Amino acid sequence: MTDINKAIEQLDWRKEPRGLYEPIEYTLASGGKRLRPTLAITAAEAIINGGLINGDAIDDVLPAALALEVFHNFTLMHDDVMDRAEVRRGRPTVHVKWNDNTAILSGDQMLIEAYKQLAKVPAGKLPQVLNWFNEMATGICEGQQYDVDFEHMSQVGVDDYLKMIELKTSVLLANAMRIGGYIAGANEAQQKALYGYGLHLGIAFQIQDDILDVYGESRTFGKAIGGDIRCNKKTILLITALETADAESKAELLQWLMATDRDEEKVAAVTEIYNRLGVRHSCEAIMEDHTAQALAELEHLPQNSATEQLRELAERLVTRKS
Ligand code: IPE
Ligand code: IPE
Ligand code: MG
Ligand code: MG
Ligand code: MG
Repeated sequence: MTDINKAIEQLDWRKEPRGLYEPIEYTLASGGKRLRPTLAITAAEAIINGGLINGDAIDDVLPAALALEVFHNFTLMHDDVMDRAEVRRGRPTVHVKWNDNTAILSGDQMLIEAYKQLAKVPAGKLPQVLNWFNEMATGICEGQQYDVDFEHMSQVGVDDYLKMIELKTSVLLANAMRIGGYIAGANEAQQKALYGYGLHLGIAFQIQDDILDVYGESRTFGKAIGGDIRCNKKTILLITALETADAESKAELLQWLMATDRDEEKVAAVTEIYNRLGVRHSCEAIMEDHTAQALAELEHLPQNSATEQLRELAERLVTRKS
């Protein structure tokens, strides 16, 4: 964690034109949980020496960890344009503080920076890492397209949703695990377990994100509450509500989905319908099931202090508030 923050701070954005680089500096300095690089480094530690990772080994993993975090921040910058989100990490989003063009171009430059970092992966490991990274990046674009397509579709089921979040969110966590482990010398069975852990953790993580978007505290969550309701995101909460509602509640919900003004009222009304139907509870059950599946994957890895950290991390994410 300290290594990754230090590495991020050392990236030099004091370059011209300021209009391109300042938003990048602003975004990377705004913090966040640094989950993906933490996963990559902890996965490497789980493979080497159980947390007693030596200086050289961490040097090998750090560029990939940095690439994953910069890439993640790039996706957030574009995602906030797509979702018309105004606040992230408690600050105005880039497209609000500057404008859409800035978010597009500074985002593009971050994607390039991510690949610059990736190019520092040890040469023997680079071809495979690059393959996985590219596969992941394409997956995220596909997932993001499904995410926006679903806003305008009425028949979206839980399976469609799970496929969509696997692409937009989970493949990044899964590949963070696999890439970190692979650079540290994980064998194929270990790579599979690391990937499986990240994949299930990612699904649980996105379900929790959907829940916090309705039931979180904007101060701790760092984002505006109700953003998903405003733009009719087919979150696990909405899909479950549509599938389980009685005729009357369903009609009411469908009515609100058509409302394009009255944002505040819409968020309150839809939240009230969710409460009435008790959808939060069933969504939490799906989340917990995926957390359990993530934990089960850890059984196939060496048992050491790093795998213990991964266990604690999965348990903590289920109850996170930010
Ligand atoms: C936000 O990711 C995007 C999702 C996949 C839900 P994080 O919640 O990890 O964002 P930061 O980096 O901690 O701000
Ligand atoms: C996150 O989905 C997926 C990506 C950024 C690729 P969300 O749209 O739910 O993420 P937040 O809630 O804006 O962080
Ligand atoms: Mg989004
Ligand atoms: Mg978003
Ligand atoms: Mg969200």
